[in-house]
Amino acid sequence: MMNPDFYSRVADEFGEYTSGDLRTDVFPDGDPEAVFDELARGLGGPGARLVDVGCADGRNLLRIAPAFGSVLGIDMSASMRDSAERKRAEAGLGDVRFELRDASRTGLPDGEADVLTCRRGPLFPGEFRRVLKPGGHLIYMGIGETDVRELKETFGRGQLYGRWDGRPVMDEVVEELTAAGFAVVLEKAFRTEEFYHSPVELDRFLRQVPIFEDYDTVADRVPFERYAASAGSDRGVRLDRHWFVVQARRTT
Ligand SMILES: C[S@@+](CC[C@H](N)C(=O)[O-])C[C@H]1O[C@@H](n2cnc3c(N)ncnc32)[C@H](O)[C@@H]1O
Repeated sequence: MMNPDFYSRVADEFGEYTSGDLRTDVFPDGDPEAVFDELARGLGGPGARLVDVGCADGRNLLRIAPAFGSVLGIDMSASMRDSAERKRAEAGLGDVRFELRDASRTGLPDGEADVLTCRRGPLFPGEFRRVLKPGGHLIYMGIGETDVRELKETFGRGQLYGRWDGRPVMDEVVEELTAAGFAVVLEKAFRTEEFYHSPVELDRFLRQVPIFEDYDTVADRVPFERYAASAGSDRGVRLDRHWFVVQARRTT
């Protein structure tokens, strides 16, 4: 799921990480990206230092970067880093840095960040705590256990397959962060309905994300068509997403 080679292949083929113009989104619980942005911006300021982990092509980081005095995005995929540099230049944001670093051993100094953000990237509570200053905040967006469940059931495989029968992922993240010395100040789940304009857009999306790292348009044609038929509507082909956001403060 977190294989940086997968993301490099996506950046090399598509030049970026997923395109929003494939679909229309409906947010019964609010837009998780907008909520995440607002939480992060609320912790910004001219002297505030932000580190974003698993930033991929940097598109989400660049939206919140102007609220901070210094901004560093880290990822292990060189192709994604190159894509992020291009997006940074296009946005005219000169002082955002993108570096190749492993989130499990960043090599960053203790207390380097006032705020650490991570959307759908790898979670290393001990390292994140070390990199944050005492009192600093982590904002983490994770993938919930029921994310695209029907699609995965139709394919009989996929990221977090079968996890819907287990303990909620968000509960585990809260427990891990608490054990590592964080006080959780917010935890919220979000259901999002995505409507892909047609099966062509859904196919393109599946080639860009690691829901099935081995997804293949030709080899997976039978389950793909079965899903597209069962989830089709006049608004498009529907995918039910499940994200969650946790905000936690480093206590000591
Ligand atoms: C699901 S993508 C999320 C990208 C972006 N945060 C977003 O939400 O659009 C996960 C990213 O984490 C990166 N990644 C995976 N393992 C990593 C690690 N150990 N250290 C740094 N980045 C990592 C991948 O290369 C990929 O770009």
